[in-house]
Amino acid sequence: MKLLNVEFVTSAAAGGNTAGIPHDGVAQIAFAGRSNVGKSSLLNALCRRAIARTSAAPGKTRLANVYRVTAEGGPGGPGHWSVYFVDLPGYGYARGGSDAAKELALVAQGYLSSPGTRAVMHLVDSRHPGLESDLQAAAWFDSFGAARHVVATKVDKLTRAERTRNLRELDRIFGTAALPVSAERGEGLDELWRVIASLARARENPDTARR
Ligand code: GTP
Ligand code: MG
Repeated sequence: MKLLNVEFVTSAAAGGNTAGIPHDGVAQIAFAGRSNVGKSSLLNALCRRAIARTSAAPGKTRLANVYRVTAEGGPGGPGHWSVYFVDLPGYGYARGGSDAAKELALVAQGYLSSPGTRAVMHLVDSRHPGLESDLQAAAWFDSFGAARHVVATKVDKLTRAERTRNLRELDRIFGTAALPVSAERGEGLDELWRVIASLARARENPDTARR
């Protein structure tokens, strides 16, 4: 697979205003997770450029930022394909005691209920499996019926033993295999691209998408 182009499309404030979000049939993949989990860093690592702003201070991404990615090849054979990446604001960032589900509802509802949404990459910190806010968020994403993929971030920070234990714990908690990644070291990015390409290209062919 070859990455051809990444461009910023639009930025939308939280609160359900989805004006400007393209509904052109191209798949949208939302990157969601707690504040500071590494959403923007993962997008930058995937795109191999500093397109999304990152910060050690949680709550950096307060807008939903949409990028359009064009690539060639990958699962599904040769040919060009496109996908929108939506960098969602993080939840769990303390703001007047609202719980994770309510906070997410504010920031992400517009995207998740949009016709183009195929999937949510649910980023969870590999060091902290089973946080209550992550469990709430997972249930909430599922209520939209979008495919949810669990991505375990910052695995470079784990020892071998912690890695084995925490990944197993995540698999048990979410009932699906978490994909371990490190934006820092590049681990897991090829695997994640394969998942993204399959989702994006299934969208191009409605027969495949329905199965
Ligand atoms: P918000 O926009 O505030 O919701 O945060 P975010 O989820 O976009 O997180 P961001 O990418 O800004 O990263 C937060 C912090 O974690 C930064 O200090 C990053 O350098 C660090 N970080 C992100 N990914 C990794 C990783 O794979 N490994 C390590 N060691 N640090 C990481
Ligand atoms: Mg961010």
